[in-house]
Amino acid sequence: MDRFEYRDGELYCENVPVRAVAEAVGTPTYVYSAATFRDHYDRMAAAFAALDPTICFSVKSCQNIHILRLLVERGAGMDVVSGGELFRALRAGADPARIVFAGVGKTDAELREALRTGIGLFNIESESELDNLAELVRSLGGTARAALRINPDVDPRTHRHTTTGKRETKFGVDLERARRVFETFGRRLGVTLSGIHLHIGSPVNTVEPYVEAVTKTLGLIDELRDAGYPIDTLDIGGGFGAHYEGGEAPPATAYAAAIVPLLRDRSLRLILEPGRSIAANAAILLARTVHVKQGGDKQFVIVDGSMTELIRPALYDAYHFVWPVVPGPEAVPPDRRRDTRLPGTRKVDVVGPVCESADYLARERHLPPMRRGDLLAVFTAGAYGFVMASHYNSRPNAAEVLVDGSAFRVIRRRETYQDLVAAEQNDL
Ligand code: LLP
Repeated sequence: MDRFEYRDGELYCENVPVRAVAEAVGTPTYVYSAATFRDHYDRMAAAFAALDPTICFSVKSCQNIHILRLLVERGAGMDVVSGGELFRALRAGADPARIVFAGVGKTDAELREALRTGIGLFNIESESELDNLAELVRSLGGTARAALRINPDVDPRTHRHTTTGKRETKFGVDLERARRVFETFGRRLGVTLSGIHLHIGSPVNTVEPYVEAVTKTLGLIDELRDAGYPIDTLDIGGGFGAHYEGGEAPPATAYAAAIVPLLRDRSLRLILEPGRSIAANAAILLARTVHVKQGGDKQFVIVDGSMTELIRPALYDAYHFVWPVVPGPEAVPPDRRRDTRLPGTRKVDVVGPVCESADYLARERHLPPMRRGDLLAVFTAGAYGFVMASHYNSRPNAAEVLVDGSAFRVIRRRETYQDLVAAEQNDL
């Protein structure tokens, strides 16, 4: 699952005691495990090896260029959704031919950058966008390869905010419209429309929605091929699960066992866009207890991490396992499940200092007694963690640290107050 484990009563990331990171770098800090990233990437590649897929890591899930570089060195391409992410992917040394670009509202400036870079695939979400891309290709010269993002109308059975492949969402075009898009645009010079893209949601903790979506898509691909459109690429997006509670995500081999047989002998280049399944379990958010207070019948553990570092609990009511970094040998829970009613624990809310009632990291959890100064780990924080940070309440962004074996280094320094006002160009 990952390389965060309790040894001798304290939390280690690989061979580094997490406590040592807090002492050297302070808190709040994201602590990433390089070995976990490598392991998750390799598992995905091995599981789908029969189809020799292009694995484009979803930059939106975890964007630090040092981490992107680590994955590029492993062979990863990149899935980007903005000019900023494209910039990061290139900075990390990604091969432009292995970059795919999705998003419902790509601007002309972003498309021009991507065209000049010569990226591998534009994942197109509407007729209007395709028209616009063709226009830009004409004015800049050259060609572009594109896949049409379809909306297969499949329920991924996940949170409504992260459901993307249902008919009523803004993503992609429905199957009926997809046929018409090919009729209208399929033979235009300049843009080679030879792929189909889909992404049904995130996290998708069962394989059935993929089977349903891919089966529907293959029906469309057959029809399009019969009509003379040479479809050669299928990008099935990301959405593979991660372990928030400890055992809920199928392994990469389970997704592959369901998907690979459908695509064998189909002469399609397969693209995957995993984010969460690679990054989520590869990091914790490390925070320190500022105060413990009683409010009404509740006990609040107030830590220096908050919704500005990790917004998932506030935004999605997401569950993240939390536990002290040094709980002592008696208080190490066997896994990360919700029920941690061990002897000596008591029910608390773990909250941050931000001025919002939604600013919490964990609610109604049984934790060992927490005292001012105690370190706390928020697990499964590597995906959609730091990337969704804000500066609300003028809080400088946290530091990011990468552990590799017995060593660790800062891969993003903690922001300063000066950083907070740097773009305001004031000469006060
Ligand atoms: N490809 C496309 C087109 C996507 O929209 C996404 C995620 C991915 C790939 C990667 O999905 P993954 O493998 O990471 O599940 N902020 C939310 C998740 C939003 C996902 C957006 N799209 C969260 O914190 O749960």
